[in-house]
Amino acid sequence: MSDSLNLSADEVLTTTRSVRKRLDFSRPVDPAVIRECLEIAGQAPSASNRQDWHFIFVTEPEKRALLADIYARGAEISYASRDNQDLAVSEDKRRVRESSQYLIKHMAEAPVLFIPCIEGRTDNAPVEKQASRWGTIVPAMWSFMLAARNRGLGTCLTTMHLNLEREAAEVLEIPYDEIMQVGLIPVAYTKGTDFKLAKRQPLDSVMHWEGW
Ligand SMILES: Cc1cc2nc3c(=O)[nH]c(=O)nc-3n(C[C@H](O)[C@H](O)[C@H](O)COP(=O)(O)O)c2cc1C
Repeated sequence: MSDSLNLSADEVLTTTRSVRKRLDFSRPVDPAVIRECLEIAGQAPSASNRQDWHFIFVTEPEKRALLADIYARGAEISYASRDNQDLAVSEDKRRVRESSQYLIKHMAEAPVLFIPCIEGRTDNAPVEKQASRWGTIVPAMWSFMLAARNRGLGTCLTTMHLNLEREAAEVLEIPYDEIMQVGLIPVAYTKGTDFKLAKRQPLDSVMHWEGW
């Protein structure tokens, strides 16, 4: 067993932040720790218990650089479309944007890049198929991130490389027509392990009883 921060379940659930600027790129990550987190992630539910998920971890510097470049170009595509809709950017959004820019510059330096994948593409699929595909990989992906947090590792789910998913599939030799990538997640030890609760919308604005 690797070193654990021994956080309570509630602490892990409330302090697993998207870590960008506090990723420690200088500290190596033992593959055994990644394996341990994935063992835990494998306990997540999946549609019909098919477990038709796949988890790619990339440590080779050349491949990380290629993926980081794809991510940066994917981010440009996302931002170009968002900027038109989102002219009045709030202070919070500005902070996320700045942190996001930092990650765009430094993605290649993360010692491990994690790409969760799922069998079956949902391009133009009915909603039920979409829910079953994404719903099969997201719980496991999040469990991995929670297990990582409890071991002092930081992660940040990113999706912008999916604008250029086919290019990433070529780099990683993923059979694109059968396998869908779900994200690109840097994994590294964090600078310090103290993370706080985030500010969220007031509960009453999103909580509904007995119907909408
Ligand atoms: C579906 C999804 C996609 C995301 N995509 C990106 C991304 O492409 N790049 C990035 O830097 N952060 C990304 N994030 C992280 C969010 O910006 C982050 O979760 C949010 O700002 C709240 O911060 P917190 O996770 O620290 O509480 C994504 C998060 C989710 C859930």
